[in-house]
Amino acid sequence: MKHIYKPGRRSDAPVLLLLHGTGGTEHDLLSLADAISPESAVLSVRGNVLENGMPRYFRRLAEGVFDIEDLIFRTGELNDFIDEAAVQYGFDRRNLVAIGYSNGANIAGSLLFHYENSMKGAILHHPMVPLRGVEIPDLSGVPIFIGAGENDPICVPQETEELAGLLKGAGADVAIHWERFGHRLTGTEVNAAAAWFQGRFGSSQT
Ligand code: MLT
Repeated sequence: MKHIYKPGRRSDAPVLLLLHGTGGTEHDLLSLADAISPESAVLSVRGNVLENGMPRYFRRLAEGVFDIEDLIFRTGELNDFIDEAAVQYGFDRRNLVAIGYSNGANIAGSLLFHYENSMKGAILHHPMVPLRGVEIPDLSGVPIFIGAGENDPICVPQETEELAGLLKGAGADVAIHWERFGHRLTGTEVNAAAAWFQGRFGSSQT
């Protein structure tokens, strides 16, 4: 998959997996990595699917209606890619924290829903429930930050609560940060994610 890898300045800091929103690229979230954990290595991946020229991580049939078969296939493809990247670049596959926005948050959610130990934590900005009816692997001890909008028309609050409930049901430690800027990813949300990350994975915690 098309990607950027940047080595970190502290080998014990979590490796950040960056997953952009629809129409984004692997360059989009690099500034988030700097804001959240500047010493971390970064693996930023471009989605393999194109929708009218806009990169995404999986196909959708309409706004908010996912092509589940493709979602499952692409989730496996991304998981395999991360495994290969860990070998190629020599980072610890178990030391990965995902940061995803919108479509990127949805594929990160799908990784959590399908693969045990896919990541040791996640920051999900404006995620939806990626799919329903799957048995989620054990997520005990996995901290997850969800940034959501009380007035987000794409990821509505009820769906945010549903996602948080599913993740908590699998044992994850979920924190929800609410904003009122629709589907937008604001600076205050990023600052809240950075503070959350420091509390969970800052130097004294690693
Ligand atoms: C999705 O398709 O993943 C969600 O609707 C969010 C988006 O990318 O617009």
